[in-house]
Amino acid sequence: MEAAKQVRKNAYAPYSCFLVGAALRGSDGQIYTGCNVENVSYGLSICAERVAVFKAVSAGVTSFQALVLVTDQEELVSPCGACRQVLAEFSLEMPVFMVNFQEKIVQTTVEKLLPASFVFRKSREEKFNEERF
Ligand code: THU
Repeated sequence: MEAAKQVRKNAYAPYSCFLVGAALRGSDGQIYTGCNVENVSYGLSICAERVAVFKAVSAGVTSFQALVLVTDQEELVSPCGACRQVLAEFSLEMPVFMVNFQEKIVQTTVEKLLPASFVFRKSREEKFNEERF
């Protein structure tokens, strides 16, 4: 939670002025953080959650223990649809904690946020892993 609050300060959000921080604990015990990074071409902006996931994956970590999402809003923010699909790629069971600065906390899971998510054919996934290792 502390890591998510800290990284939120780095959010680059001059268009929405809405700062978001995310912290993902990898199965290696490390915390991977992310903040939202906006762009003048609005559609190129990326959410804090995806930055955290992509940082972890690029560090070689693809299994996670938990995600914390921090905003400074009375009403808690939950991950957008795109982020839900990206999180579902790696863990459906992962607990997701939505938090604000009044210490309000709501706990859910990726599966609850994105029920009946798209799953790629297993045979292709196995082939990919065979070729990779
Ligand atoms: N945003 C996130 O980073 N995560 C969310 O879960 C919701 C939205 C960002 C995207 C954009 O930079 C700003 O918040 C306003 O939508």
